[in-house]
Amino acid sequence: MRDLMRKNFYITTPIYYPSGKPHMGHAYSSIVADIFARFKRIEGYNVLFLTGTDEHGQKIQKEAEKNNKDPKIFCDEISETFRSLTKTLNLTNSDFIRTSETRHFKSVNEIWNRLINSGDIYLDKYSGWYSVSDEAYYDVDEIEEKNGKKLSKISGSTVEWVEEESYFFKLSAFQNKLLDHYKKNPDFILPTSRRNEVISFVQKGLKDLSISRTSFSWGIPVPGNKKHVIYVWLDALTNYLSAVNFPNTNDDKYKSFWPADVHIIGKDILRFHAIYWPAFLFAANLPLPKRVFGHGWILSDDKKMSKSLGNILDPIEVIKDYGIDQLRYYLIKEVSLGNDGSISMGNLEKCINNDLANNYGNLCQRVFSFIKKNCNNKIPQKDKLKDTDVKIITNIKDNIPKLIEYINKQNLNEYIRTVVNFSFEANKYFNDSEPWHYKTKDPSRMHAILYTIVEQIKNISILLNPIIPIATKKVLNSINISDKDILIDNIKKNNALDCSSELKSLEILFKKIENDN
Ligand code: ME8
Ligand code: MG
Repeated sequence: MRDLMRKNFYITTPIYYPSGKPHMGHAYSSIVADIFARFKRIEGYNVLFLTGTDEHGQKIQKEAEKNNKDPKIFCDEISETFRSLTKTLNLTNSDFIRTSETRHFKSVNEIWNRLINSGDIYLDKYSGWYSVSDEAYYDVDEIEEKNGKKLSKISGSTVEWVEEESYFFKLSAFQNKLLDHYKKNPDFILPTSRRNEVISFVQKGLKDLSISRTSFSWGIPVPGNKKHVIYVWLDALTNYLSAVNFPNTNDDKYKSFWPADVHIIGKDILRFHAIYWPAFLFAANLPLPKRVFGHGWILSDDKKMSKSLGNILDPIEVIKDYGIDQLRYYLIKEVSLGNDGSISMGNLEKCINNDLANNYGNLCQRVFSFIKKNCNNKIPQKDKLKDTDVKIITNIKDNIPKLIEYINKQNLNEYIRTVVNFSFEANKYFNDSEPWHYKTKDPSRMHAILYTIVEQIKNISILLNPIIPIATKKVLNSINISDKDILIDNIKKNNALDCSSELKSLEILFKKIENDN
């Protein structure tokens, strides 16, 4: 049973198309969401963290046909590679939803019926441009011609002309309500640059949206008209509700977790999450998620990853070569979350050496081996701390509210910068305090320094835990802090260190990467 006294937090990743194997962009969104989920958990929240696969629509049907497979069997296989990636990425997702599941059918049917009942759906004929690859409709002014091919200016993907009977959603009727919502809830869309993009798009006026297709069958049938399948984006977005047992709005899970706290998405799917999704929810008379955060694009050596350039980074390969904590850390430290960021293996190696091996890793290793040699492998008692010792300990504690605020605004870069700085300061403190000089001269001073530095290591490790969970757990376990005590509250406590038990041995945390060139 969930502890009902605790606060709840619901975070989601996009549900990915199982059209091909997962790449670094998918891994990025999932890692980012996992870091927030882990942080909220150590802050004391009940966290529901959802990810999964988006299995219907023309794109998937075509891909399955290309592979001579039944779409369901095709999805079963590729969805499994996404599920297995959650393990490789060390995600703490509480659920993995597939839109081919019964729970999701029920929830999409209910949404459809609610939109029918509110009078926001009508039958007409659609004619216009459609991108199968994006599963998106584009206006004429969003199309350009290159080498005789019609392309979306927004995504660069090929579009085709579609003319068919279609149900429409009265999106145009929600323009003012949406603009009003953005105005009253300035943090609904973050970062602010994305919010501005959305506002100016909506201000230009919204057209009604085609929400069903008749030219293929792989999807959820429109209730009462089997000729049509529901538009894959109406289907997909509803997954966020399906996972909290919608349509059962009396269900404990729904009541605890809806509305979601934040949908983490890439900027490519902002329009769907920040315009269509809230409009559907308005029409269905359901509360809106509290935030949509659109992160930037991961570029591989400055270029967009694409099959034709052959520069698609496979997260599984990178993890095999460098390790998962290393990849998680690098993606967060070196890419500014709201913006596009280029990654390269050279920079990953530099980052591992400078930040992980030389800074945090080295700090832990040298302090623990010093304690082993000079203090019978036990943390000295807290005794006779000088002002400088107390100050450095207090500094981290005093920064906790600020760090929580960074996380609550998805400002991961400021968060990590602050914590890494604590680690630099701790290293400097250790060097400047020179405990080795006091071994015989003044053992009590040496003890005070060691106590202080272990307190630093403990607090920095807790703060880095959401980002590099494996390494920090090793460090914390070695100072006899068990997994259940990896909590932000443990930073605030005085006397949280166990000075009576021996340290457990700590293997090398991050191997330095030696390069011959
Ligand atoms: O759009 N850099 O699925 P999708 C950063 N099924 N993030 C990237 C990226 C890159 N180069 N490439 C992909 C869909 N992503 C829909 C979503 S949600 C109800 C339905 C990430 O498989 C980013 O989060 O095309 C992007 O939004 C998502 O993968 C798109 O994944
Ligand atoms: Mg895509």
